[in-house]
Amino acid sequence: MFPVHRPRRVRQNAGLRAMVRETRLDRSMLVAPLFVVPGAKVKREIGSLAGQFHLSVDQLIEHARGLADLGIPAVLLFGLPESKDEQGSGAWDPRGIVQQATRALKAALPRLQVIADLCLCEYTSHGHCGLVEETAAGMQVANDTTLDLLARTAMAQAEAGADVIAPSDMMDGRVAAIRRGLDQSGFTHLPILSYAAKYASAFYGPFREAAGSAPQFGDRSGYQMDPANAREALREMELDFEEGADMLMVKPALPYLDVLRQARDRFDVPLAAYQVSGEYAQIIAAARAGWLDQDRAMMETLTAIRRAGADLIITYFAAAAARAL
Ligand code: PBG
Repeated sequence: MFPVHRPRRVRQNAGLRAMVRETRLDRSMLVAPLFVVPGAKVKREIGSLAGQFHLSVDQLIEHARGLADLGIPAVLLFGLPESKDEQGSGAWDPRGIVQQATRALKAALPRLQVIADLCLCEYTSHGHCGLVEETAAGMQVANDTTLDLLARTAMAQAEAGADVIAPSDMMDGRVAAIRRGLDQSGFTHLPILSYAAKYASAFYGPFREAAGSAPQFGDRSGYQMDPANAREALREMELDFEEGADMLMVKPALPYLDVLRQARDRFDVPLAAYQVSGEYAQIIAAARAGWLDQDRAMMETLTAIRRAGADLIITYFAAAAARAL
């Protein structure tokens, strides 16, 4: 007897495979993370992230122009300040590095969407995402006093012309605090993309070198999520949605595709996934060793993230993927 069902019939050639392909990637889904540093004419490759750079504002503009020309609609900005302090004042300084970069980008490339990452960890001397206080239980990252600083940072980013505010700190109640701050200062139109389900992940390793934001003591498990928890991720997303988030994010991406899928089935808002520094670096390292094909691994992971339900993908492969598409 011949088999009745032959899935291979539609796999015979590239034309048939393209016809029945379920998941498509498009440049319009890609967001490129960028690292802006003080100074002029700085373009320095980041050791832990091959092909990614520390860019001064002038170089950032040129780099972003290249991304826009490739059809990438948005960049996500991270800043490395001139100096750090206990409060992370560089985050909300109207002349802070991300604010300067945002103003320059919006002037030079008005159609490119600037997403401002909102967190204190690149700006605090201790490297934590909020204010640190001494408690009976030892040093803790304070929640409620941090909220005011986050709202203040969001307002500075909004004043500078950011198109989207993306809080990545994982304090409880931050979306509500930021929304209130934005609304009271006339930015009712400005969307919030919340890093809602952000895990305490080993895959952020290369980023911490890129952003100089490794915690000086302890770790982030007191505010970022336990990798073992998926139901809790949905609860985090529900809270951020109720507090007024316009878009929700799952981060990292590939180790958490189940969370992304469950979020897709449950929420109707746009969903973003962040393919983080460690996900990128491991593919680059294996490709350099000759162990896998970089472009195929890149497209396979991005397609998987899309298949799981992401509308937007934040990825260090944005330029390479846009070129390949
Ligand atoms: C800051 C922040 C981190 C990343 C994005 N925003 C690092 C962290 O939480 O330590 C990680 C991004 C990446 O690994 O590519 N809160």
